[in-house]
Amino acid sequence: MTATETQNRLIDRQFGDQAAAYLDSPVHAGGPDLACLTWRIAELQPGVAVDLGAGGGHVSYAMAPHAGRVLACDLSEKMLATVAETAAARGFAHVETHRADVHHLPFADASADFLASRYSAHHWTDLAAALKEARRVLKPGATAIFMDVVSPGAPLLDTHLQAVELLRDPSHVRDYALGEWLSAFAQAAFAIRHVETFRLRLDFAPWVARIGTAPERVAAIRTLQSDVADEVKAYFAIEEDGSFTLDTALIETAAA
Ligand SMILES: C[S@@+](CC[C@H](N)C(=O)[O-])C[C@H]1O[C@@H](n2cnc3c(N)ncnc32)[C@H](O)[C@@H]1O
Repeated sequence: MTATETQNRLIDRQFGDQAAAYLDSPVHAGGPDLACLTWRIAELQPGVAVDLGAGGGHVSYAMAPHAGRVLACDLSEKMLATVAETAAARGFAHVETHRADVHHLPFADASADFLASRYSAHHWTDLAAALKEARRVLKPGATAIFMDVVSPGAPLLDTHLQAVELLRDPSHVRDYALGEWLSAFAQAAFAIRHVETFRLRLDFAPWVARIGTAPERVAAIRTLQSDVADEVKAYFAIEEDGSFTLDTALIETAAA
């Protein structure tokens, strides 16, 4: 078994039983990044729009009123079943679900007019390879918008962030720093059009409940949060109950 097959199983296990939690999560159902995406796709009105790592489907639902077809891709069958059911309930018959790994998309070259991905790339084992695959399915000049948690980059802060993320969810790979994103975009022939960063406060109890973090791992996260340098506590605005604030980014690109 390759490392990627194992990782994909881990992702499926982590997310499969949490589909309802991700559909209902306020962090995922709203936010300024989703508002920016909605505004951009409303302007562009693409024919075919792809959602990579659809999860509970909030990007697909935001795109659906403005796109001819929406292709919601995810590794998890249960997430996709939730997306299919919710899209139907909202009257979005043109939202299709596809079980697919972002590193190997089941779509023809230059077949999509728009692509978006949100809060999924930190699970991808090879960011540059996944971006190359996204680039392959897009028409030249098409817009692609990527949104995710980003690492502040400085080793002291980066190590803390990746450690708490991995304890919370063993399928976590990496919150990439903006520099890592930019280098992966360059390798995949995407031109950067616009970068916007946000701060996102995560309420501790729902943050761990959403992915079903085991009690001993929750305790380990709390220990890490109390045993850190003041700079780390201040940067992530770590609160008494473990709630904290991190950075997210929206990167708008054009397929070269
Ligand atoms: C946090 S959820 C996504 C949230 C959703 N995009 C939103 O904005 O509400 C992350 C999703 O990425 C999916 N995922 C992770 N790695 C993937 C991969 N390599 N290929 C396809 N989907 C993947 C997971 O199965 C999970 O459903």
